[in-house]
Amino acid sequence: MIGLMNVETKSREDRLRTVLNNLSLIGITGSTTSTTEAPLILIEGKEKEVREEDIVVIENKNGGLILAVCRKGTGINENLKVGGYSPGIAYVRSTGKAPSTAKEAYHFILSFIGMVEDDSLRANDVIVAPGSPVYVFRGSKNNPLEFMRPDDCVFGGFLAREKNWPIPFDKRFIPYHIGVFGATGSGKSFLARYLLIPLLKRAGYGVLVLDWAGVDYAPYFEEVVSISDVKRDLDSVISYIIEKTRRFGYRQEPNILTEALEEVITESWSQLLDACDGPEELKDRLKELISRKIEGSELLDRYKRTAFIRLERGFQKISPDDLRELMGKKDVKELIVQPGRVLVVDMHGVGDEEKLSFFLTLAEHIISRMHKKEELNLALIIDEGPQYCPFEPRGLQSKVTDKIKDLCAMGRKHKLCVVLISQGIAGEIGINAAVRRNLNTQFIGQIHPLDIEEASKRLSPYGIKPEGLLYLEPGKFYFVGKMNPSPTPLLISFGIKGGE
Ligand SMILES: Nc1ncnc2c1ncn2[C@@H]1O[C@H](COP(=O)(O)OP(=O)(O)OP(=O)(O)O)[C@@H](O)[C@H]1O
Ligand SMILES: [Mg+2]
Repeated sequence: MIGLMNVETKSREDRLRTVLNNLSLIGITGSTTSTTEAPLILIEGKEKEVREEDIVVIENKNGGLILAVCRKGTGINENLKVGGYSPGIAYVRSTGKAPSTAKEAYHFILSFIGMVEDDSLRANDVIVAPGSPVYVFRGSKNNPLEFMRPDDCVFGGFLAREKNWPIPFDKRFIPYHIGVFGATGSGKSFLARYLLIPLLKRAGYGVLVLDWAGVDYAPYFEEVVSISDVKRDLDSVISYIIEKTRRFGYRQEPNILTEALEEVITESWSQLLDACDGPEELKDRLKELISRKIEGSELLDRYKRTAFIRLERGFQKISPDDLRELMGKKDVKELIVQPGRVLVVDMHGVGDEEKLSFFLTLAEHIISRMHKKEELNLALIIDEGPQYCPFEPRGLQSKVTDKIKDLCAMGRKHKLCVVLISQGIAGEIGINAAVRRNLNTQFIGQIHPLDIEEASKRLSPYGIKPEGLLYLEPGKFYFVGKMNPSPTPLLISFGIKGGE
């Protein structure tokens, strides 16, 4: 009993010192060290065991235990240096064999996670003494991530090199928003399905998923709503019709027809929806009401004539199916799910503009709830991010991009977490820069070559080679940013068996 209490009351640092006895020594730190990284010289033979992304602990001779990640592995042999003549090279050329390995050595750069001190993990500020011993965790029973768990965290997924070691995610930073980036087939939607959604549920969030094509989520979850069943708000009805009729052929908005449309929708939309049997009738009644507005206006006759012609032409561009999309009856407030529930909006079967206009309705509603100071405990998962807020938004996308920025900005104070998933990070294949700045946690999987520069800005400072990102296997992601208790990114993965 007393022994058990001892274990529980021991500080993290003491526990790590005990664990150290069970870990295998792999090498010592070389020169030149700093407070954020140090080279590791491997003991002979260890190069076959130690891998990139392995987690190690440095017993700093200057004091303290530092957790670190192995990066940038290199092997050198002085006898085999190329780019000039040497006896070693001559030996290879004449015999076809490798010369002595006496001058061979293997190194890693250790990128520091932090110093384990008492009961916390903090940024290391002591220079690591060259010659400090380094021990590796892999192969032992001890999860190194236990030593860096924040007080308020939720575990999920695992370290890519060790399936038994779940990752601690810092709950406080969930409403600081999440970006998931990776080329097609890198496993983004799977990451959302198998890691993020269960994690967010466990963290006390309700999850609303927007399934753009209806194939990535809708078939796999119990609660699914079709986009056409949701009632639109007036603003989105107006902008949808304006978009469909191409501003009725006028160069800009507002014009006589968009103003008349706005009045009619504001005054009569609810009654129209109740009164009309189908989209054809709705279309006729709508056109009729707008005509009356023009008729009653003070415009000169010749302008009225043009307006009638343009009204006719504009309405020819709207099909009954287009209007059917506006006739849903489910109130958008029913989509704001309670903590622990997951609801998927199946958006397939309607055009891009309908999808975006639905998004505006949803965003408006969420924003109005936040204005009322509600705590939402809601995660909004937006897959296919560039459809909503691309690099250069056009048409409805501009409004959507602004709304996403607003959701992010207000979300922090009202427990709303926006998760944006995109094939590209920056530039033409990426998402809008202003939105991207709001995504304080990122998962970066295998990337498109066009994104090398952007990914490298985030990952190179930690010794991660950006070229390596071109070859990451599906389902492997670098976990970067606020929710990660480690300042250096961690390579993580997740299981895909057993469903959500
Ligand atoms: N953790 C994992 N382990 C093993 N395989 C995985 C894992 N995650 C994803 N995959 C594989 O990768 C494939 C592609 O995944 P997914 O559909 O999530 O890609 P995506 O990045 O969303 O692609 P797209 O951009 O085209 O939507 C999956 O069908 C699955 O076979
Ligand atoms: Mg996908």
